[in-house]
Amino acid sequence: MSTPTLHVSQHPAVLHKLGILRDERTEPKKFREIVRELSWLLGYEALADARVRPLDVTTPMETMPGAELADRIGLVPILRAGLGMVDAMLELMPTAQVWHLGLFRDERTLRPVEYYNKLPDSANVDLCLILDPMLATGGSATAAIEVLKRWGAVRIKLVNLIAAPEGVEAVAKAHPDVAIHCAALDRQLNDKGYILPGLGDAGDRQFGTGHSVCYGLIRTASCRPR
Ligand code: PRP
Ligand code: URA
Repeated sequence: MSTPTLHVSQHPAVLHKLGILRDERTEPKKFREIVRELSWLLGYEALADARVRPLDVTTPMETMPGAELADRIGLVPILRAGLGMVDAMLELMPTAQVWHLGLFRDERTLRPVEYYNKLPDSANVDLCLILDPMLATGGSATAAIEVLKRWGAVRIKLVNLIAAPEGVEAVAKAHPDVAIHCAALDRQLNDKGYILPGLGDAGDRQFGTGHSVCYGLIRTASCRPR
């Protein structure tokens, strides 16, 4: 698929960590660690065009022209799975603001349901990064982008760990101005809206809350009957 707004990382460290993340034997502690590490690497790539302004820096030797971050960055993790991506992003951009958005996907309709939003009246950031490990149907991402645009956000990027072609297409069609940064573009969705080959349920795998039956065709360590 060639979508001008889609950036799939080719970094060897990303490829290596992604294999561990997908592995059904990876337990929640390790899974959270890898989500954090991948978020750092993807955030680094997604923020490559953040704006800086000139600033003089005086070293112990002399004064030289340097730079400081000019963009006010807003991080918007989608609850709950996006929470695991926040700390790494804050390490990269310690001055970023964090605005949580609560959305869950109705398991029957696959449509997003908003349950938490405390954004202030008007946008006070220059660049918003929406953080969510999974882009499946694209319903949650599209809803989050609409919330942010209504809020007044102009520059928005989506940072996902794994994207499905269906989700990329939905976002690109509704919001062609929003760049998508991800670690992998997978094959397809199954009939329950889970990404194949994917990694299962990103929220459940981070927080150890696997159901007894999930994902339709695939089973992971977090939901396998004991
Ligand atoms: C997952 C994921 C995304 C959404 C993606 O969240 O973290 O937010 O599904 O699916 P979509 O592209 O089809 O909308 P989920 O609804 O499972 O909630 P959770 O993070 O609380 O587990
Ligand atoms: N949400 C997930 O956590 N995983 C998927 O594969 C699809 C949506």
